Amino acid sequence: MTVTQQHQPTPAPTATGATREPATLVARGIGAWFGTNKVLEGISLEMTARRVTALIGPSGCGKSTFLRILNRMHELVPGAAMSGEILLDGIDIYGPSQRPADTRLRIGMVFQKPNPFPAMTVYENVIAGLKLAGIKRHDKDDLVESCLVRAGLWNEVKGRLRDPGGGLSGGQQQRLCIARALAVNPQVLLMDEPCSALDPTSTRRIEETIDEISHEVTIVIVTHNMQQAARVSDHCAFFLAAEGQPGRIVEAGPTDVMFSNPTDPRTLDYVNGRFG
Ligand SMILES: Nc1ncnc2c1ncn2[C@@H]1O[C@H](COP(=O)(O)OP(=O)(O)OP(=O)(O)O)[C@@H](O)[C@H]1O
Ligand SMILES: [Mg+2]
Repeated sequence: MTVTQQHQPTPAPTATGATREPATLVARGIGAWFGTNKVLEGISLEMTARRVTALIGPSGCGKSTFLRILNRMHELVPGAAMSGEILLDGIDIYGPSQRPADTRLRIGMVFQKPNPFPAMTVYENVIAGLKLAGIKRHDKDDLVESCLVRAGLWNEVKGRLRDPGGGLSGGQQQRLCIARALAVNPQVLLMDEPCSALDPTSTRRIEETIDEISHEVTIVIVTHNMQQAARVSDHCAFFLAAEGQPGRIVEAGPTDVMFSNPTDPRTLDYVNGRFG
């Protein structure tokens, strides 16, 4: 299938000069603990390349923990442990030769609260990840423009590139964080409730951005907003933790099926807002 792109992005090369394609992420039998408290069990899920996967489920069922396992941030929490495998295009990101910093470049993350570097300019914010990644670019102006275009922010900030990132609105700051994440050319972008602090217009803008970039990066998004999950995702996974039990996936599948004709009655109850 040929994908027509409105704006041809300038792909960021890796430190070795190669460009990266979106990748499929597969979780196999994931378990997670904080100390002795087991919070996830038996999580297996395919997050397909060039598709948007939404993780839904009530508070505390382990969605954020699972997302952090997907880019090796869970292990940064003292006392945290995990089991199982995460395969990025077939390679286990927890394999002995895999470096967490490299994995986090391939699998980027956008958080609930926009976290640009407030004193850095808009321009500096976009390229902030390059230095950390050891990527040298001679076409930084083009890269900054292309990332801001892809994040749906260019028109609003093209005259303010030298102003501090902290001066943007909340919704603009979140799109700046998306631009910053895209600048290192990740294969997967994880988003943990990226719109929960935003007004409806900014939310809509981020959803458009997700739609526009979804053909060039695999997206996994956590959301409590069922309309949003229905609008932006191709696939959904419904997480649930029974009282005192670790979180499990009740059901996963194409979003239209999950919202109209799921297998498990709890899925239909949840997506219709009857609990959680
Ligand atoms: N740093 C931590 N230390 C100890 N327990 C934690 C930690 N982070 C999360 N937990 C526990 O792990 C479980 C899963 O939490 P997690 O944040 O992954 O849920 P969630 O589905 O993202 O919830 P929400 O929808 O409220 O964001 C919860 O019981 C939570 O209390
Ligand atoms: Mg969470």
